[in-house]
Amino acid sequence: MWRQVACSHRILPGGWEQNGVKQLGLDLGSSNTRIVTKEKGIELLSPTAAAFEKKSGRMVAIGAGARRMLGKTPVGIEAIRPVQGGVIAEPEAATRMLRRYFKRLEAVSLFRRPDVIASVPCNINEVERRALEDTIYDAGARQVFIIEAPLAAALGAGLPVAGAKGSMIVNIGGGCTQAAVLSMGGIVISDSLRVGGIDFDRAIVQYLRKKYELLCGELTAETLKIRIGSAWPKFDRGTYDVAGRDLGGGLTKTIKVSSADICEALYGRLEQITAMVKTTLEETPPELASDIYDSGIVLTGGGALLEGLPELITRLTGIRTIRAKKAPDCVCRGIHWCLGNPAASRYIRYRA
Ligand SMILES: Nc1ncnc2c1ncn2[C@@H]1O[C@H](COP(=O)(O)OP(=O)(O)OP(=O)(O)O)[C@@H](O)[C@H]1O
Ligand SMILES: [Mg+2]
Repeated sequence: MWRQVACSHRILPGGWEQNGVKQLGLDLGSSNTRIVTKEKGIELLSPTAAAFEKKSGRMVAIGAGARRMLGKTPVGIEAIRPVQGGVIAEPEAATRMLRRYFKRLEAVSLFRRPDVIASVPCNINEVERRALEDTIYDAGARQVFIIEAPLAAALGAGLPVAGAKGSMIVNIGGGCTQAAVLSMGGIVISDSLRVGGIDFDRAIVQYLRKKYELLCGELTAETLKIRIGSAWPKFDRGTYDVAGRDLGGGLTKTIKVSSADICEALYGRLEQITAMVKTTLEETPPELASDIYDSGIVLTGGGALLEGLPELITRLTGIRTIRAKKAPDCVCRGIHWCLGNPAASRYIRYRA
């Protein structure tokens, strides 16, 4: 059963820290794990990846080291993304990775266990929510509190969440995209899609394979997306040389990929995202829709950094869309605001 923290007999966010328990904010994303503390802000930002020795099960790398191994591990080693589509896909790996991160921050020891506020995607089911919570408990947490990611993103982006005026947030992460309309401190309507930056990378891999008969890895595709990617042909960011395996001859070759190529490769995924935004808007009560028309749509998450994306959404919805400042960190900044803040109790829940 889920309860608002304020109703619980447990320690309230405002009263934390008194008994020396470390308080952490956690955004366990499909691409990146971010851990925040009240005092230092974002203390840990590391890829959500882990690599294991297949035979012994020994963890050989986590974070950036494991991410580099994705898709090119030597025989006997397996590199995985423990979180996929915003939810825990490999509980064991996620727990072990998280425990390491907690230890790195000296939050977990024989005598210490932290209290954690974690973000969860909206519209996930009870089993997925429980899996996330259990992972955090197993990694060493004493108590786990939950905040819905779009709410945290809106708080982090500085939107007037508590007021009666409606606002809309679209959080585009690595594994999922969430659109939510917020008013009076809560989510009025929301939708989510298991499509994010990682799927953009996969779409680029497929595109290059088909058009140029070139096989490259997802990390190369991500570099292309970041360097020259654009959501709209109007935003031309030049070309980039990519080396990969020639599917025609089997040897390596280098080709010049243009910004227009990436735009074409991403077309299908972006269409899915814009369709979801439109559907959410269509289902929004008219009063709130007119507020959103005035205030605009705010994009957060790493995927929001794609060049031309706000302009594309503005054009397709007719509503001014902007990218939040420090968009990838918004969820984490929202959680940071909640840490030790009595006013945050209305946004946070815990399982009784
Ligand atoms: N400049 C950029 N242009 C386009 N995409 C970018 C840029 N910088 C980062 N990204 C993408 O943002 C994604 C990561 O975003 P973020 O850290 O918000 O995801 P996450 O929180 O881990 O995932 P999720 O919330 O979906 O579980 C990656 O796919 C990355 O490639
Ligand atoms: Mg995220």
